[in-house]
Amino acid sequence: MNTAELPVPPQGWNWINQLADTGWVVARTVVSPELSRALRVEAETLHSEAMLERAGIGRAGDHTIKSDIRRDKTRWLSRDEEVQARYLDVMEQVRLAVNEAFYLGLFSYEAHFAVYEPGAFYKRHMDSFKGARNRVLSTVFYLNEDWDETDGGALAIFDRAEAEEAVELVLPELGTLVIFLSEDIPHEVRPAMRDRYSIAGWFRVNDRGIAPSLQVVQTTTPVNPDI
Ligand code: OGA
Ligand code: MN
Repeated sequence: MNTAELPVPPQGWNWINQLADTGWVVARTVVSPELSRALRVEAETLHSEAMLERAGIGRAGDHTIKSDIRRDKTRWLSRDEEVQARYLDVMEQVRLAVNEAFYLGLFSYEAHFAVYEPGAFYKRHMDSFKGARNRVLSTVFYLNEDWDETDGGALAIFDRAEAEEAVELVLPELGTLVIFLSEDIPHEVRPAMRDRYSIAGWFRVNDRGIAPSLQVVQTTTPVNPDI
């Protein structure tokens, strides 16, 4: 077949390009509505069974609960649960797409459900410190239907360490996925007025030494915007 006859791929917005440009992106078509709703049910069920526990701060072994900084409750996702495994499969597609587009060398992924109960928040922070062999790319996926500005709980994104004003306020609406560079993007969760469910996750590299900062290696090959 003459390649000139192939349909021209859509040149519209795709999340990989915005991630490369700004270091963060809000994507709404990566996880299907059906899987989003199933994850919501899963999170709510775990919470009703008291399976979510007060989150701490710091590395394993240095796990302290600091109520003045964060007040969410969390539980790690497990591959043994079918719905959770499906979410981890989607994130595997994200990992492959990012690795194909950038020299990030993302290797592993871990994620937890989180619930912010009324009054809960997470003060401004970064998910990783520069140079630490640690988290490289963060994801937050939201699980709340009919969320209104007056329900609070927005994710405020800042584009650099010194920034005072948020560049974006993201409402934690079902199906919304935020992806950002763990070492570069400060963010905070404003106090929620009602139960706010999400899945926060982090990609790591195997050896931090081989993963420099984000570099675009392909600008012409279109990347499927839905993966
Ligand atoms: C986190 C985090 C953001 C959110 O868990 O580190 O920043 O919107 N979560 O839930
Ligand atoms: Mn965070």
